[in-house]
Amino acid sequence: MKKIAVLTSGGDSPGMNAAVRAVVRKAIYNDIEVYGIYQGYQGLLDDDIHKLELGSVGDTIQRGGTFLYSARCPQFKEASVRKRGIENLHKHGIEGLVVVGGDGSYRGAQRISEETKDIKTIGIPGTIDNDINGTDFTIGFDTALNTIIESVDKIRDTASSHARTFIVEVMGRDCGDLALWAGLSVGAETILVPEAHTDIKDIAEKIEKGIKRGKKHSIVMVAEGCMTGQECADELMKYINVDARVSVLGHIQRGGSPSGADRVLASRLGGYAVELLMEGETGKGVGIKNNKLTATPFEDIFNKDDHKFNTDIYELAKELSI
Ligand code: F6P
Repeated sequence: MKKIAVLTSGGDSPGMNAAVRAVVRKAIYNDIEVYGIYQGYQGLLDDDIHKLELGSVGDTIQRGGTFLYSARCPQFKEASVRKRGIENLHKHGIEGLVVVGGDGSYRGAQRISEETKDIKTIGIPGTIDNDINGTDFTIGFDTALNTIIESVDKIRDTASSHARTFIVEVMGRDCGDLALWAGLSVGAETILVPEAHTDIKDIAEKIEKGIKRGKKHSIVMVAEGCMTGQECADELMKYINVDARVSVLGHIQRGGSPSGADRVLASRLGGYAVELLMEGETGKGVGIKNNKLTATPFEDIFNKDDHKFNTDIYELAKELSI
């Protein structure tokens, strides 16, 4: 393996830069040339491919976002479009591709490894949603979690001053992990996630019970994949008459300097991705399970549901918020 490329794709996440830095530095350390593909798969199609040096990733480990830029590129699903991208990789003599992104980004990498045997592909899980099989944690999840905690701690101050109920909507299109972990961390009264059904009437009763025993405010944490914060508030108001406010945290959750945990995870996964390419591995996504680095075939990542919703945490959060 003499030349590899790296791209970031899909929704960005804090720590993507740290992952790219690790890929670049690990490769150069092993005398492998590295190319950065700018704007994700779109840049691959547009031949926005440039050689990276050690200094190209200097001063990036602490930065949020991705200096390679990211894009969603639905047209990459078409074989004829992909052919153009593969031709560009061949043109630069690239033999290995590292893709940092989520499920959709992995699918592009899987197709490339199937359609051309001389380009090996490895995926690194980069998304705040923590919704990828084959890993306990995705890069960006921990930072987003801390951003939510910091925001809700502030919301709690004003909620308390005004004796209000706050419905906080957090990201997580198909996965309730951000809502679950943040909900436990901020002591939310209720956590609404796509993985578990919660009766809104029960939430209303719980809030009412809390008010009766002197509680000054309530926090309801809602994953966007379950319902919107506004829908939750509207439903809730059918049962109780509280002074409720909705706060949608939105894209603030995707920004910011990566946490220590994310920097370490990104560095370990980036280095491991290069090791796998050097060993001739392809069509796999790297991850971390029980603090051990793992590599899982894309096929299993797409089809085996091993990133289970943590019911222990969910039940504990319920028990602690009675
Ligand atoms: O990357 C995942 C995610 O942050 C989801 O949680 C969210 O639903 C989505 O991206 C938002 O995407 P966009 O920035 O394209 O609107």
